[in-house]
Amino acid sequence: MPGFVRDSEGELTCDGVSLERMAREVGTPVYVYSAARIRERYEAFDRAFAAVPHLVCYATKANSNLSILKLLSSLGAGADVVSGGELRASLESGFPHDRIVFSGVGKREEEIAAGVAAGILAFNAESERELEKIDAAAGAAGKKARIALRVNPDIDAKSHPYISTGLKHNKFGVDIGRAEELYEKARRLRNLAVTGVQAHIGSQILDPEPLAETARELAALARRLLDRRFALETLDIGGGVGIAEPENEGLSPQDYAAAVLPALEGLPLRILIEPGRAIVGPAGALLTRVLDVKQNAGKTFVVTDAGMNDLIRPPLYGAIHPIESVGPPRGQSSTADVVGPICETSDFFARDLAMPAVQENDLLAILDAGAYGFAMASNYNFRPRAAEVLVEDGGFRVVRRRETFEDIVRTERG
Ligand SMILES: Cc1ncc(COP(=O)(O)O)c(C=O)c1O
Repeated sequence: MPGFVRDSEGELTCDGVSLERMAREVGTPVYVYSAARIRERYEAFDRAFAAVPHLVCYATKANSNLSILKLLSSLGAGADVVSGGELRASLESGFPHDRIVFSGVGKREEEIAAGVAAGILAFNAESERELEKIDAAAGAAGKKARIALRVNPDIDAKSHPYISTGLKHNKFGVDIGRAEELYEKARRLRNLAVTGVQAHIGSQILDPEPLAETARELAALARRLLDRRFALETLDIGGGVGIAEPENEGLSPQDYAAAVLPALEGLPLRILIEPGRAIVGPAGALLTRVLDVKQNAGKTFVVTDAGMNDLIRPPLYGAIHPIESVGPPRGQSSTADVVGPICETSDFFARDLAMPAVQENDLLAILDAGAYGFAMASNYNFRPRAAEVLVEDGGFRVVRRRETFEDIVRTERG
């Protein structure tokens, strides 16, 4: 399997290319992505749904580096975008307009107008008011906008509460019990073409049952709408497929498809899926140098040059990232906290992690960091955002250079 593997000398590589060399040439912290792994993950989803007409709409929020967007568009993926910026980046990266869906709980007028102008596959509309706004924007442009209603099925994704979105007290979508009433309303709005149903119940979902239940609910709704002569074309089951964690195996695209397809096969609809994390998460690592190894009250702290501004997922929602030394593991295993240099106790990557002895200047790889890693990075503490590197065809290239002080101050200096 492509990705992060040790070579015969015990050194961690990305698809056989030296991570140590990348860190020396590009500096740290740096995100490294395996193009081969991204391709393999995308193709696994595409194959898993081969039994039905389908489109894998990559959730660009997970990682919107333009080179990764270009790679996925070249493979035939669609895109699920949540902002005007992601829409533009996707169009400019080669995603055809009719393979783009636009999600997001609050869309600005200019973002809706941009989606209308582009002629996207569907707006995933989040509320009654949003239907009216999309209708108005389409009317102003003299076009018809294609919409799916995002329904909230009140299903527990059994994931972290901060990334669960399908419960009725969450802000997302419209109560599935009100869906038919809103579909009838949408049908009366002259500038809308009602073409789909959609739901997305959360992220890092490991139990296939909530996803299967969502598919059953959507299929039942779609059948009722088809009976009422809605000209539906798509059924979109969202994203959320969980990846392996140190104590979980992850949900494979095959097992995911096996869980949801029984409810969907036979429907005269194209099935859309919106995986983000499961495509790019395992394909990326954050490389960071050890700045210091210190003891406080008998506890060991490994202080790295990456901080929570580079990767915020562990403190944000308890994400667990395996952390390995890039060089061959040496010495006895002991327990340490791996922490960043930022003045916040929440600035950590792992707590009480059993790891081989590390020293100052060692290079560490924080694995499974390809999704919601760089995408959530900030300039907190006036820290430039990390560089990004793509490994492809036996070599690597910088696909985003490290920010400079000038980059950060540009928008303040007029
Ligand atoms: C509407 C929608 N679709 C897809 C996704 C992608 O989720 P994941 O990266 O877990 O597959 C998200 C993530 O929040 C989302 O909000």
